[in-house]
Amino acid sequence: MAKLELKNLNKTYTPKVIPVKDVSLSVEDGEFLTLLGPSGCGKSTILRLIAGLEEPTRGQVLIGERNVTGVRPGDRNIAMVFQSYALYPHLTVYDNIASGLKLKKTPSEEIKQRVAEAANVLGLEELMNRKPGQMSGGQRQRVALARALVRRPDVFLLDEPLSNLDALLRERVRAEIKQLFAAQKVPVVYVTHDQTEAMTLSSKVAVLNKGDVQQLDAPELIYNNPANVFVAGFVGSPQMNLLTLSCQGNHASLGNFKIPLPKMPTVPHNIVLGIRPENVHLAKPEDTNIIKGRIFLVENLGMHYLISVRVDSSEKEEIIVRALVPIQQKWSGEEINLVLPNESIHWFNVQTGDAMVKPSVASQLV
Ligand SMILES: Nc1ncnc2c1ncn2[C@@H]1O[C@H](COP(=O)(O)OP(=O)(O)OP(=O)(O)O)[C@@H](O)[C@H]1O
Ligand SMILES: [Mg+2]
Repeated sequence: MAKLELKNLNKTYTPKVIPVKDVSLSVEDGEFLTLLGPSGCGKSTILRLIAGLEEPTRGQVLIGERNVTGVRPGDRNIAMVFQSYALYPHLTVYDNIASGLKLKKTPSEEIKQRVAEAANVLGLEELMNRKPGQMSGGQRQRVALARALVRRPDVFLLDEPLSNLDALLRERVRAEIKQLFAAQKVPVVYVTHDQTEAMTLSSKVAVLNKGDVQQLDAPELIYNNPANVFVAGFVGSPQMNLLTLSCQGNHASLGNFKIPLPKMPTVPHNIVLGIRPENVHLAKPEDTNIIKGRIFLVENLGMHYLISVRVDSSEKEEIIVRALVPIQQKWSGEEINLVLPNESIHWFNVQTGDAMVKPSVASQLV
């Protein structure tokens, strides 16, 4: 049982390729940290640095109180699950799962027992004599997970373990992973670019962009209080509406409509307004501060509808609304009245992208 700590971790490949920039974070026993970010932002590099498959240019990796920077991967007691499974094709499922334990010269009775336990948890009992080539992607993924589990490591690292599975299987294995690793009581670092996985699995999420941690928080806070425009735009589907507006006096202008600004020391010339599609309301007759628009696209997603609206008198300002019902059967070309509740609006600095005022109400689908 040992906490994992990264201290000012840096990795530079060339002056232009710096996939990890001064990353500091810690993961306690039993915590599930997800590294979330677009392709190429440095997620796998961070895992490889933790595992010792690469050395940092600067900074340290600590497991417990032990500084393991420079320690051989085999001496770190870390188990890693790779996106590509990395199973031995010529070995049976049993031997694949047992391979790490055999290398460590674990007594054979103990190996049998641990492999049987992991096979039971992952439903692999019937497949123990098969070889990887005789199994489906989902089954192979389970073998890779079992091989990590039997090791009883101090830290688990998982690099996009679900990315090769189809949507249904992905959901099932996702739920299994959550239960499996909650029971392990050691730090888990999970890499994905899938925000649903990040939101559902994690106790903490680190959103990365170009090697920089943009925000490190509980998933609810990442969603409800994004620290900057990058996090706001990356987390959430459909994306948060982000509109650059000009400010006059104590309001921002959206087409001909005025949106009151929150109190701030100085009013900037321009500001970025953010509002999630589920927080844009359809106006009721008694509403004031209505924003008039025209629908140009309605998408039926089964459970809800996405309605794309162009704000009146403005060809450029578009707002996406997520609604549970087709709005009184309104369709493309029709007019629509919207309300942007003040308490759901995020305001961001136009230059730095940083959040200026966070909304007071959590996001919700209405
Ligand atoms: N050995 C290497 N030499 C030079 N550049 C590298 C090397 N390995 C990775 N990179 C670069 O470092 C950056 C980060 O790569 P990394 O694999 O960590 O990204 P990632 O976030 O895991 O992306 P993905 O989601 O596509 O897996 C990329 O720009 C990549 O091209
Ligand atoms: Mg990767």
